[in-house]
Amino acid sequence: MCGIVGAVAERNITAILVEGLKRLEYRGYDSAGVAVYTNDKTLERMRRVGKVSELEAALAAQPLVGRLGIAHTRWATHGAPNERNAHPHFSGDIAVVHNGIIENHEVLRERLKAKGYVFTSDTDTEVIAHLLTEKLKAQPDLTIALKATVKELHGAYGLAVINAQQPDRLVAARSGSPLVIGLGLGENFLASDQLALRQVTDRFMYLEEGDIAEIRRDNVQIWDVSGQAVERQIVQYSDGAEAADKGEFRHYMLKEIHEQPTVVQRTLEGRLSQNQVLVQAFGPQAAELFAKVRNVQIVACGTSYHAGMVARYWLEELAGIPCQVEVASEFRYRKVVVQPDTLFVSISQSGETADTLAALRNAKELGFLGSLAICNVGISSLVRESDLTLLTQAGREIGVASTKAFTTQLVGLLLLTLSLGQVRGTLGEGVEATLVEELRRLPTRLGEALAMDSTVEKIAELFAEKNHTLFLGRGAQFPVAMEGALKLKEISYIHAEAYPAGELKHGPLALVDNDMPVVTVAPNNELLEKLKSNLQEVRARGGELIVFADEKAGMTNGEGTHVVQMPHIHDILSPILYTIPLQLLSYYVAVLKGTDVDQPRNLAKSVTVE
Ligand code: F6R
Repeated sequence: MCGIVGAVAERNITAILVEGLKRLEYRGYDSAGVAVYTNDKTLERMRRVGKVSELEAALAAQPLVGRLGIAHTRWATHGAPNERNAHPHFSGDIAVVHNGIIENHEVLRERLKAKGYVFTSDTDTEVIAHLLTEKLKAQPDLTIALKATVKELHGAYGLAVINAQQPDRLVAARSGSPLVIGLGLGENFLASDQLALRQVTDRFMYLEEGDIAEIRRDNVQIWDVSGQAVERQIVQYSDGAEAADKGEFRHYMLKEIHEQPTVVQRTLEGRLSQNQVLVQAFGPQAAELFAKVRNVQIVACGTSYHAGMVARYWLEELAGIPCQVEVASEFRYRKVVVQPDTLFVSISQSGETADTLAALRNAKELGFLGSLAICNVGISSLVRESDLTLLTQAGREIGVASTKAFTTQLVGLLLLTLSLGQVRGTLGEGVEATLVEELRRLPTRLGEALAMDSTVEKIAELFAEKNHTLFLGRGAQFPVAMEGALKLKEISYIHAEAYPAGELKHGPLALVDNDMPVVTVAPNNELLEKLKSNLQEVRARGGELIVFADEKAGMTNGEGTHVVQMPHIHDILSPILYTIPLQLLSYYVAVLKGTDVDQPRNLAKSVTVE
């Protein structure tokens, strides 16, 4: 999703801005631009549709040299992805970049047009630039004018602004879209994600909701939502663990798939005793809160939502706790009836997904017992705003399609299930000890599944000419099938749908013919025989079957049936294991199709707009 970079320094900052944009490329975008207050004392910009490399080439041909600038990667919301709509947007001496959505942009646009402002784009952002120019007429100080401007904006924004009349500073505002200030020596920076600035500094200050910041070369001032001057904590990063490189792998996605044994191991570290889950892993107040929990409401989006759906099976089966799961974009706008003593659980890789954050904020008004975030980013808004947190240790995920974030979320959710069951005394005899043991073995099992990489690569060839696919699963494998279908859609652009296998005969069977491959995950559980019957229904209609089956399930290759034998695993952990071959399948199909695997079209990594 959109990215922001800004800099005020004593040296030329254009290359820093462009490098920052490159580091944000993984988030997905469709155009890029930079505005620089040049050494000739003019405000100039360069914008290009497509990749940051195109902007870079344009800047090489026609350099912009200056010590103050802002830059942006845009993921289109209002207006087509063209150069006219790319940021920065200008109004007189003002340049603005913006992440988020201004909901009252139409009203503001009409008002500003009536005052004679001429709009050159279809974006909601341009109204901010003109509104600021209008405010500067009454109050010439840029920072004060920005404070007045944001009072009139409804919606979400992370904003960075420069003004050719006040080139000593960069100003910024945060409401609903993250911003971080990078602190240098005699130079300071701004970005929507600290990753963009790791090239220039390791010291960061995160803006909070409602903050306005004035960033000068040698000084940073911040005001909170009530207008009080505030200090924000400085966070220093000292390790190089976030280095972004693909190593021996062709794509980040493949690298991240193969990292899963390691990151699952890390997510378990320090959270298990000999035969129990350590409840305090969820925070010091977790045991007290968990003891009161009688229901769980899970809210998330996309892949994280699928993790929540798996957790529902676990929570009800193992801990006997009723659980509801809903996508955040629906939950946030629905009249929700909250059962007494319900724990609100949000799941998010980024912790900045706008719908999930809004759902959490609504939940706080609805009388939930408390909130827990299962999240991969410790400094995210979701973590800051939740009562309890379990951080997944997936490390940075660069591929837009989520892989290792999902499996580590599942691990976190199983730890939650066991913790709730332990505190409430609802787990069956020996269940916790058995599953703790199985969790310890999980990284090894995942490694075994990854060793099937080349087998899955071969299977992928079956999909090269196909346009549609069905994914089937039963029980907790149904969400795994949904996740498999989502991965295939996202990166190979093949239409894929997931069904609980028992639903096939209630409609989707009509689609099945020899052009419709059907992918199934078949662990060795009590639903296996029923699943086998469902698969016969597919074969009888000429559908080609690809079955990832437990080595003990007794399934073998046959005409039109390709069986990949999976290592045996405890049924409860099988959703984690069976995710692996589906990720590999999508990956290899996408490679065959020649798509942009790490940055699939139209998608963004962290969806910070509604
Ligand atoms: C799919 C994918 C998305 C995200 C969704 C939620 O591969 O990555 O569906 O899962 O946008 O994002 P987070 O987990 O950051 O809240």
